Amino acid sequence: MDEILRTPPLTEAGPLKELEDWDDFVSTRYQPGKSEEQFRNYRADANPTVTEFYRQNHAHQTLDSVLKKKAEYCGLKRGKKSIWEMAEYLNTLVDESDPDTDLSQIEHLLQTSEAIRKDGHPRWFILTGFVHDLGKVLCLYGEPQWAVVGDTFPVGCAYSDQVVFPEFFAANPDANVPEYQTNYGIYERRCGLDKVHLSFGHDEYIYQVARNHLPEEGLYMLRYHSFYAAHRHNAYRHLMNEHDEEMFACVRKFNPYDLYSKGRERPDMKAILPFYQDLVAEFFPEQIDW
Ligand SMILES: [Fe+2]
Ligand SMILES: [Fe+2]
Repeated sequence: MDEILRTPPLTEAGPLKELEDWDDFVSTRYQPGKSEEQFRNYRADANPTVTEFYRQNHAHQTLDSVLKKKAEYCGLKRGKKSIWEMAEYLNTLVDESDPDTDLSQIEHLLQTSEAIRKDGHPRWFILTGFVHDLGKVLCLYGEPQWAVVGDTFPVGCAYSDQVVFPEFFAANPDANVPEYQTNYGIYERRCGLDKVHLSFGHDEYIYQVARNHLPEEGLYMLRYHSFYAAHRHNAYRHLMNEHDEEMFACVRKFNPYDLYSKGRERPDMKAILPFYQDLVAEFFPEQIDW
């Protein structure tokens, strides 16, 4: 069988019943109208599996593990596939608990992109919404949940207390490396995020896949959409350069579509598919490296 579509058993994937449990937790955290006090109490919104997920994520995302995952995936050596083949593949990640009422992965992506389209945004922005979570196929490659989803954060420098569950960083081996625990760590002041290693996950992977095909604004949206400490809480500005600051306006513009478009009505796949087939073909060649 195709190397890229080899599906390992998911039993060891991690504590979340499905990856969307993490997305759902994030949208609960940032529910519109939530008071600052309610927000600071996010721990109460996290069910035990979400909490356990963060415990694992914060303990295992070390500088060393990030460099290894990047070496494994960022060279895009898993073969060529079309965007559609990957979307179909991601669709094999189904919620076993309630397959009838739950939306498929493709439907989730289309809800995000359709909300962007309804607001009259440019075509590249709609397409960015459509592909933004395709990196979750990492889970189907056999990666544990902690290496696929979760709020991202820089490794190799001090952890910000603006990252959720900062207390779980105590279990990260990097917490005992003094060189990694200064404000700048292994980086330089305002060196720019491109030089900073973030915890590895679906953001970095889809960014690498799309980097030659989408405009820079879209690439920032893909690469940093889970970097909540930075785009929602303005943390880590000491590592960002002026260009990052400008581009983060785009990341912030994208975020509400990611958070709040799910759970709307089921997209009419048949009616909208031709639009998306044209859109994908406009920016991506038929086969791309994964
Ligand atoms: Fe995502
Ligand atoms: Fe998403």
